[in-house]
Formats: sequence, structure tokens, C-alpha cells
Amino acid sequence: MKKRVFSGIQPTGNIHIGNYLGAIKQWVASQTEYDNIFCIVDLHAITVAQDPQQLRAGIRKLAGLLFAAGINLNQSALFVQSHIAAHSELAWILNCVTPMGWLERMTQFKEKAGQDRERASVGLFDYPALMAADILLYDTHLVPVGDDQKQHLELTRDVAQRFNRQYGDTFVVPKPIIPKIAARVMGLDDPAKKMSKSEAGKFHAVYLLDEPGVILKKVKRAATDSLRDIRFDESRPGVFNLLSIYQAFTGESQAAIEAKFAGKGYGDLKKELAEVIIEGLRPIQERYAQFAADPAQLDALLAQSAAKIRPLAADVLQRVQTRLGLG
Ligand code: AMP
Ligand code: TRP
Repeated sequence: MKKRVFSGIQPTGNIHIGNYLGAIKQWVASQTEYDNIFCIVDLHAITVAQDPQQLRAGIRKLAGLLFAAGINLNQSALFVQSHIAAHSELAWILNCVTPMGWLERMTQFKEKAGQDRERASVGLFDYPALMAADILLYDTHLVPVGDDQKQHLELTRDVAQRFNRQYGDTFVVPKPIIPKIAARVMGLDDPAKKMSKSEAGKFHAVYLLDEPGVILKKVKRAATDSLRDIRFDESRPGVFNLLSIYQAFTGESQAAIEAKFAGKGYGDLKKELAEVIIEGLRPIQERYAQFAADPAQLDALLAQSAAKIRPLAADVLQRVQTRLGLG
């Protein structure tokens, strides 16, 4: 039996190379090894206000990008979270076994709510319980995510274990898979900040659909430092970030990359890096154009995939309801 993998991504903002290297690339690479379920988490997106038309367009765009990146429905499911009602139903149940104190410790909530916690939605606070429901609903063993989701995965494990203790063995307790390289891609304009969809800076992130000229411009503007030699040194976050992106795209070793750039300058590194990103994204961009040309086909693929896995979710939900004495 193959191990079950589940992961999710929000259909908001522009998908960037941090999402690609931290998550999507691993999903695609290990598709044959596991039994995979990938989810476009639109219910997570509405924890902050969304424009309905933009949300709908964002779902299709993300689906197109994921298929273009290589998600294959013969090996994986790819569906929209709100199409399977069991996610919301299990989230409610998990709300009732999750202590507020656990959610209060979540750093993502603190960052997103900012100073004005009173105005943040209850949904934003409760976001990790819905994420736990996503994962636990499919008896998931492994969850491939970027480094920023580690804390949410810990919470998921804690909630599963607490439920199992209180009501008897019910949930599989999942483990995260975090990539060794590029688990946390930093902003090109500011390597102290994680590359993020919501950052507005023009030179902050490379998006998956950026044209070659734009990619070159962004990489050329990337922050470095006043030193010269090109080495993987975490105390020099700008150069380390560029080298890590290079490594993640090429799969070359750190030693080989350092040897390649020995005696060269930042200008050379940036030119080569831009080239590697452009070539890495080119096939995705070409395939994306085909998917984007036929939105009805995209919708149909998502619907078929949801239909296929809906019974799995129903089974687990039924198991949970029975444990609780519901219905
Ligand atoms: P999100 O954009 O929050 O829906 O994230 C989708 C996936 O991309 C999650 O697995 C994140 O951990 C991952 N991710 C987001 N930003 C980065 C980043 N800067 N570096 C690496 N992985 C990331
Ligand atoms: N919270 C994740 C993010 O922002 C997205 C997500 C929702 C997810 N449900 C999930 C990731 C389940 C992994 C498993 O990146």
C-alpha cells in the first residue's frame, strides 16, 4: 500500500517560485511514490475578504498552473475544497476539541491579524482547525509543505492525538515533509522576509507566469551584500537565497555551484540564475496556456476528481460521527 499524501494551496494572489520550490515541485516529483490528494483551499482563502469574481478566476488559474506543473490525475487527485462539504463538517467537529490556547499560539494568525485582532475574522483564527480537517479527512500519512506550515502541522498532530485519546483511535497522525532545499524562499528585495503572495513590492517575487524579461529584471535587482565571493553562507541571506533558488532549480550540489561561480561576480550569478529560472518555468508557462484556453475543461477535471475522492471523505466523517455519538 502506498502512503497517502495530502497538501493544499490557497487560490489567492500570484503563485511564486517560493510556492513552487517549497511545495508544488515536491508534489509533482513524488507523485508515483505516493497516493496523492491535492487541494485548492478556497475556504481558507475567505478567512480574509475576497472579491468573488477574482476568487473564481484564481481557482481556475491555480488549477491550470498545477496541471501545467505536472499534477497528473492518473496519479493524484486535484480538487476544490468547497466542493467536498465534509471539510467544513469535520472542521466544526475539530473546533470542539481544539483549545483556544493552542490557536492563540499560531504565529501565522498573529502575523495576519496584525495589531487589530478584534477585527480579524473568527475564521482567520480558526484557520488551522480547517487545515487539520483537510488532512485528517483522508487518513493522510504525509503532508509536503514549506517551512512556514510546520506549526500548523504540529497542531494537526496534537488535535488528532487528543481526539484519539478522548474518543478512541480514529485518526491517522500525519507527518510533514519539508524540502531540504528552498523550504523557505526569501523575498528578492528583502531577504529577511519570506517570499509571500501578499507582498506588494514590484521586485519582491518571481511569479510562475512572469515573462523572461521581467524575471531577468527582478533577479538583477535582487538584494545581495558588499562582499565578493559566492558561497552558501547562511549569515549572508541575500546571496544564500539566490544560491538556494539556483540549487533547487538545477538539482546541482552546493560544491558544484560554488565551483562554477568561483572567481565570478554577483552580476554573473544573477544572469545565470535568471536563465535557470526562465528555463525552469518555460515548460510550465507553455502548458498553462493550453489549460487556460479551455476553462470548461478545467472545471470538468476538478469536478471529476472531487467525485472520485468524495467517498473517502464520507467514510472518515462517518467514523468520526459514530465515535462522537452524533446522528
Ligand atoms: P500558500 O501560498 O500559503 O497557500 O502556500 C502554499 C504552499 O507554498 C505551502 O506549502 C507553503 O508552505 C509554501 N510556501 C509559501 N511561501 C513559501 C516560501 N516563501 N518558500 C517556500 N515555500 C513556501
Ligand atoms: N495553510 C496552507 C498554506 O497557507 C494551505 C493548506 C490548507 C494546507 N490546508 C492544507 C496545506 C492541508 C497542507 C495540508 O500554505
